[in-house]
Amino acid sequence: MNPDKPSQLQLTALRSGCFQSKVKWIGTLLTACLTLAAPQLRAADDVMIADFEGGTYGDWKTTGEAFGPAPALGAFPGQMAVAGFKGKGLVNSFFKGDVSTGTLTSPEFKVQRPFIIFLIGGGKNPETTCMRLVIDGKAVRTATGPNDKDGGTEALEPGSWDVTEFLGKKATIQIVDLATGGWGHINVDHIVQTERKPATWVADAKRDIKVGKRYLNLPIKNGAAKRMVTTLVDGKVEVKNEIELADAAPDWWAFVDAGAWQGKTVTFKVDKLPDDSAALTSIEQSDAIKGAENLFKEPLRGQFHFSSRRGWINDPNGMVFFNGEYHLFYQHNPYGIGWGNMHWGHAVSRDMVHWKDLGDKLMPDDSGPMFSGSAVVDWKNTSGFGKPGKPPLVLTYTAAGHPTVQSIAYSTDGRTFTKYARNPVVKEITDGNRDPKIIWHEPTKKWVMVLYVGIGNKSTVHIMTSPNLHEWTLASVVEGGNDNRFLFECPDFFELPVDGNKANKKWVLFGANSEYTIGGFDGKSFTAEVPKYPGQLGLNYYAPQTFSDTPDGRRIQMGWFQVGPNGMPFHHAMSIPQELKLMTTPEGPRMTRTPVKELESLRAKSHKLGSLTLSPEAANPLAGINPELVELRAEFTPGDANEVIINVRGATVVYDTKKQELVVNGHRVPAPLQAGRQRITIYCDRVSLEVFASDGLTYVPMAFQPKADNLTLGIQAKGGSSKINSLQVYELKSAWHVK
Ligand code: FRU
Repeated sequence: MNPDKPSQLQLTALRSGCFQSKVKWIGTLLTACLTLAAPQLRAADDVMIADFEGGTYGDWKTTGEAFGPAPALGAFPGQMAVAGFKGKGLVNSFFKGDVSTGTLTSPEFKVQRPFIIFLIGGGKNPETTCMRLVIDGKAVRTATGPNDKDGGTEALEPGSWDVTEFLGKKATIQIVDLATGGWGHINVDHIVQTERKPATWVADAKRDIKVGKRYLNLPIKNGAAKRMVTTLVDGKVEVKNEIELADAAPDWWAFVDAGAWQGKTVTFKVDKLPDDSAALTSIEQSDAIKGAENLFKEPLRGQFHFSSRRGWINDPNGMVFFNGEYHLFYQHNPYGIGWGNMHWGHAVSRDMVHWKDLGDKLMPDDSGPMFSGSAVVDWKNTSGFGKPGKPPLVLTYTAAGHPTVQSIAYSTDGRTFTKYARNPVVKEITDGNRDPKIIWHEPTKKWVMVLYVGIGNKSTVHIMTSPNLHEWTLASVVEGGNDNRFLFECPDFFELPVDGNKANKKWVLFGANSEYTIGGFDGKSFTAEVPKYPGQLGLNYYAPQTFSDTPDGRRIQMGWFQVGPNGMPFHHAMSIPQELKLMTTPEGPRMTRTPVKELESLRAKSHKLGSLTLSPEAANPLAGINPELVELRAEFTPGDANEVIINVRGATVVYDTKKQELVVNGHRVPAPLQAGRQRITIYCDRVSLEVFASDGLTYVPMAFQPKADNLTLGIQAKGGSSKINSLQVYELKSAWHVK
């Protein structure tokens, strides 16, 4: 028998609540337990007080508005996902938001069993967000949800009252929401009288595992209450994470890479667990991650956009070319499909298209979760972290604890990273300081850091300089303004030639929403020469960054692509890599974006349709081409057509020739003709669409899920004819076949 995993029998016994201390199982106790389960000792049947399933409150009475006209069917608009209730209905007093108040009272019932058990969540106030047992006009028992501060969870948890002393009495249950502020609501479900002693909580539940395999798989239930899980290796705390552990059947399995801990004892310590939880007992060791056979083949896995094997990702971090590889780090929650537990995940690629995920490199520590930052190659070993002939790769990140500070880590092999012993390198300026981006400034021979610093609701970028990456001096401050958008978070800063002219370079300062400004930089101060301009024009793109140290000097950006999707054990992706340039337009220099040429390696089959005339009557020239993953390129002169309409697997991309605007799935943006022509490039993956137009001035990234059986493509003109100069469709292959 595998000593790390309880047998099915043991698990069943554990779940039936035979053990008070659930994290251990002992053969003899198990036998006793099975004997107790003999029929003559069967408990009396449970008595349902309310399951809130019937679509109405039945005989329960409401006052006020908070409880709405009937049981809720989950979350209300503006509420986080509500989980942990049974069936379809529950009591959720978030009806009309936290401001609404009211009560919900049961009809009178007789206390017939020694315990009342229920599921409860929401606010934690015993006066204003609670459930009470009322006997003889007095509240004799009260329960609340767990939340009294920002964050928290909408998950309902089991609760219980011992009501032995009231057996035979008449009682009512009153659910109360008199609170109007944050967590001013209460969630309740499944109230039952029972004779079986309810599950109790086990504090600091533990499981020791002697590591003999590469991965430890953890069971995750999306939306379950978050438990504080401390991972210890041979008794030493390694990391702490908040994890939605599954007490019973998991939605998916997260994994801990235990490669470095072979032969050691890993202890998972959980702050609290119901005593019938299977969360710890079901943790399983394996040589491949659980579900590896489906990895990257999942139906909603983007096939040529980077996403993590498991868990949530947000911003790209530490993008750099080092030792022949592009490195992409990323904000990662390895243990949930929502944001949290920020680690830096790490992936490498030789072409920015085919990525190999190497797992997590910066873990949360006592200085806090690992927020966004950047990477540079310290060619001259100014930091002293390198070795002769081995310049170090230096990462800079925000340690987002209290205080929130900027820190560094380094590596000479691009695989193992050491956090600098004398971190932080920049102390807290305000608690809203984060996302350091570092560049080398050759004229002054100094490192330059641009750091987002929120001051009240004002965004600023602090510019700091350093000779060696660990001693930093404030040089100047750029004001983003009060609109809370411009230069908010994740700045990027780089120099680009205008129209490729190296004698006319400009500095570009970028914010997370990809708005940018252009100006000059003397090594200390940035002087904006223009107001802010919009960056990308789509819907689901944020916090982009560019690679440092690219071998050919190209400035290449990738952004966090918020494409979900729901129902998968991973969440969100990165955009395709795009080369940034500055191009002169009649209004002055503007940023353009072009998909990098390396993406051409995805092309499996090409259809080149040459020049043709599109008219409303013309047959669809793309009929019969049925790719799953698509790159489509069309260049046309509008002629007298009002619209050129491209359909890609159910997405519509309309070029409005009169207004010179592009409408992508109903989202309208400017797209000026360039020398009388329009060039449109479309990339369609399983969960996303990216459209480039106007020679790169217009970029529209968007979450989009084509229906699996819709493989049609189309192009047509409306209101007149258009001349297509060239039309190409490439059937793309998946980028996930990395050895
Ligand atoms: C942007 C951001 C950053 C922060 C990170 C945390 O999406 O809020 O400012 O460093 O995400 O995950």
